[in-house]
Amino acid sequence: MSVITVKTAPIEGQKPGTSGLRKKTRVFMQPHYLENFVAAIWDAIGGVAGKTLVLGGDGRYFNDRAAQVILRMAAAGGAAKVIVGQGALLSTPAASNLIRQRATDGGIIMSASHNPGGPDEDFGVKFNMPNGGPAPEEVTNRMVAATQSISEYRIYEAQDADLSTLGTSGMGDMKIEVVDPVADYAALMEKLFDFDAIRTLFQSGFRLRFDAMHAITGPYATAILEDTLGAPKGSVVNATPSPDFGGGHPDPNPIWAKDLMDVMMGDGAPDFGAASDGDGDRNMIVGRGCYVGASDSLAVLAANARIAPAYAAGLKGVARSMPTSRALDRVAARRGLDCYETPTGWKFFGNLLDDGRITLCGEESAGTGSDHVREKDGLWAVLLWLNILAKTGKSVQEMMNDHWAEFGRNFYSRHDYEAVDAEKANTMMDRLRTRLGDLVGSDVMGATVESADEFAYDDPVDGSRATGQGLRVAFAGGGRIVYRLSGTGTVGATLRVYIEEVSDDPATFTMDTQDALKDMIARADQIAGIREFTGRTAPDVRT
Ligand code: G1P
Ligand code: ZN
Repeated sequence: MSVITVKTAPIEGQKPGTSGLRKKTRVFMQPHYLENFVAAIWDAIGGVAGKTLVLGGDGRYFNDRAAQVILRMAAAGGAAKVIVGQGALLSTPAASNLIRQRATDGGIIMSASHNPGGPDEDFGVKFNMPNGGPAPEEVTNRMVAATQSISEYRIYEAQDADLSTLGTSGMGDMKIEVVDPVADYAALMEKLFDFDAIRTLFQSGFRLRFDAMHAITGPYATAILEDTLGAPKGSVVNATPSPDFGGGHPDPNPIWAKDLMDVMMGDGAPDFGAASDGDGDRNMIVGRGCYVGASDSLAVLAANARIAPAYAAGLKGVARSMPTSRALDRVAARRGLDCYETPTGWKFFGNLLDDGRITLCGEESAGTGSDHVREKDGLWAVLLWLNILAKTGKSVQEMMNDHWAEFGRNFYSRHDYEAVDAEKANTMMDRLRTRLGDLVGSDVMGATVESADEFAYDDPVDGSRATGQGLRVAFAGGGRIVYRLSGTGTVGATLRVYIEEVSDDPATFTMDTQDALKDMIARADQIAGIREFTGRTAPDVRT
């Protein structure tokens, strides 16, 4: 066994996006592709020598092979130890927790989140920092630079490490510790929430359906919801992770979790439905006959978090990504909480959490989390909801009705146009960008534009500035349209249009969201020329 040095050359396009480097699996499987990027990670963190890292992934196709390569490159680089989830599995929030609990120098998560998996689908790699959160831009920029100048990498020549057996083994001088992927995470959840209250809720006949979408949360949800909290066996469905997520799209929204939606909207629906994504950081919440949008869920959790033991002392502050609806802002205003607006992507919450400025945060893209880890956390959101329902005795629908009665309702929807010709999408954005100034004060189909700008963010903790974070048009009366191009797509461009309208009139609260947003949707097209530039008459996905 020895370390070998392999000659290589820069490969174009190795630039991490909103959340790590994501590419087609076959791209990742090309010679040197993964290796070059891992070498760049070592470079960006000042070398891996002497370090301890966490490693795991969401179990998608190539997860197991990639883990072996990463281990051999860590051994070649002189890493002291790698803590690996059994079977090379770890949900993203569980990886974040392990990094923190074991005070490691960071970790590598293999996942393309909610994107489908398989040889013809997507794969991804991201590095998380010692605080458990995604690498900030300063670090990912160093990765990009390293990928552009790489000429060789080092890899240990060895047989595959056995990742199926718990315990510690070695690869050269490096230790490999295989741990139960669920145990530490489950212990953390038990500390945060009132498990007794949730147990009593299930004993009273409360019915739950958790759809793990053939992805990583299956084992976590089964252990916590069924085995520990006493939800009836079979409450967790699609619970076995599969390399191609059962051929599905592990994205918890009404389109891709249609089975769950059908059950929850049908006769005899359970009391509570939830789903999580490929790597377990996203969540969808749905009550009996009542879908809860992610922005609303965030606002409800912020308004009621004190019910859970972990947040009983109150929240330090809250944050949302810019395109997320401003329902959260209304809660913050009433409760006297600071509310931060950050660019899209979880990495921007890290400094606010580390600095103790916020306790709870979230994104419209089904992501909610708190200072318990440094990633969004799907199962955590489900447990916080259950804790709140258990203590208030309300149904999901009652929670929503009471919330809107107190705070008003922010109708909100995101329209995605997927795999659009990248040049056309960029042209559309460029044209809109130049027209933003002229829009201010103008009338668009009966509504006055109050402000229009391109979002930039100055991090209040480290002073860093992120520019080009989306075009936003706000109207008098509280309506808003935001346009941005996805940073996680792997084919062409994905145009995301975020549409919001507010109402304080209780008579409107039960309106269908798309109906309530009809005028704003028409304005969104009128302002940007979506149909004209994309050639599409309707979005591919509405959430
Ligand atoms: C999307 C979501 C964003 C989320 C990211 C990673 O990024 O919009 O909120 O943080 O996935 O899960 P986008 O494709 O929009 O860049
Ligand atoms: Zn995810």
